[in-house]
Amino acid sequence: MVRETVLSPANLVMPLFIHPGKNRTEPIKSMPGISRITADLAARECSEIHRLGIPAVLLFGIPASKDAKGTGAWKNDGVVQNAVRAIKKEVPGMVVITDVCLCEYTSHGHCGVVSGDKVLNDATLELLARMAESHAQAGADIVAPSDMMDGRVGFLRKKLDSARLIDTSILAYSAKYASAFYGPFRDAADSAPSFGDRASYQMDPANAREAMREVRLDIEEGADMVMVKPALAYLDIIRRIRDSFDVPLAAYNVSGEYSMVKAAGSGKLLDEKRTIMEILTSIKRAGADIIITYHAREAAAWLTRKE
Ligand code: PBG
Repeated sequence: MVRETVLSPANLVMPLFIHPGKNRTEPIKSMPGISRITADLAARECSEIHRLGIPAVLLFGIPASKDAKGTGAWKNDGVVQNAVRAIKKEVPGMVVITDVCLCEYTSHGHCGVVSGDKVLNDATLELLARMAESHAQAGADIVAPSDMMDGRVGFLRKKLDSARLIDTSILAYSAKYASAFYGPFRDAADSAPSFGDRASYQMDPANAREAMREVRLDIEEGADMVMVKPALAYLDIIRRIRDSFDVPLAAYNVSGEYSMVKAAGSGKLLDEKRTIMEILTSIKRAGADIIITYHAREAAAWLTRKE
C-alpha cells in the first residue's frame, strides 16, 4: 500500500542477438543464459516473452561477414531486417526496436567510418541513415541510434521523413558513456574496436552536465525518447534527466551489469533473484520509464507469477 515504486513487465525491453541462418543457437560465453539466435528462433522467443507482458525487444545483428564500411548493416535481407519481418509476422503486437550502429558490421569494430586513426563523424551519418531506413522498411517501430555521432538524430529524422517513414520513432542513446561495462557485449556482438577506444564519441563517466546537453540536443533534433547507458553507475544521471525533460526515458542495464550479477549468483556470493529485482526496481525509482535488460525474461516471469 505504501510502496512508491512498482516494477512491471511493461517497463522491460529484452535485447536479442541475431545471427544468420535457421534454427541455430549459440550460447554467449561472457553472458551466461544469453545466446545468439536466428530470426526464426527470435520470432518464437518473442511470442513467449510477449505472453509474459514484455512489450518490446531490441535487436542487434551479427552479420555473416564484415567490411570497412559495414555494408551488411543496410542490406534488405540483412540479419536484423530478416528478424524484424519474422517477428512482426509471428507477433504483430511486439514493439520492435533496432540498434542502429555500425560497430557490429565493420571489420575494425568502430561505430563509424574510419580514416587513419580517426572516426569520421559526418561521413558516418549517411551510412547510419541507410541502416535506419532499411530497418524501418522491414517494419521496425523504433530505431535506436547508439553510435554517438553528433547530429545523427536530426539526420535520421530527416531521412526517415523524406522516405515517408514518418511513423518510425527514434529512441536516442543520448547519454552513452565510454564504459567498461560493455565488455561482455563486445564479445557477444564481436564488436570490440581493433585499435584505440570509443572515447572520441562516447561520454566521459565523470561528466553529468554533458549528459544534459546531449539529451537537450537530441530532443531538439527530434528524438522521441532518450536513453542513459549504462544504468547502475549512472542512477544520478537518470534522475537529473527525469527531473528536467518530459520525454520517455530509457535506461540500459548493460551486459557487464548483467554478467556481474550472474557470476556472483552462480558463485553463491549473492541471492540472484533478490539482487536482480532490487537493481531493476532501483533503476525505475531513479526515474526510468523503460528498462532495457538481459534480465527481462526472468524478471517478467517472476513478476507475473506474483511471488
Ligand atoms: C553499439 C552498442 C554497444 C552496446 C549497445 N550498442 C557496444 C558499445 O558501444 O561498445 C552495449 C550494450 C551492452 O553492453 O549490453 N555501439
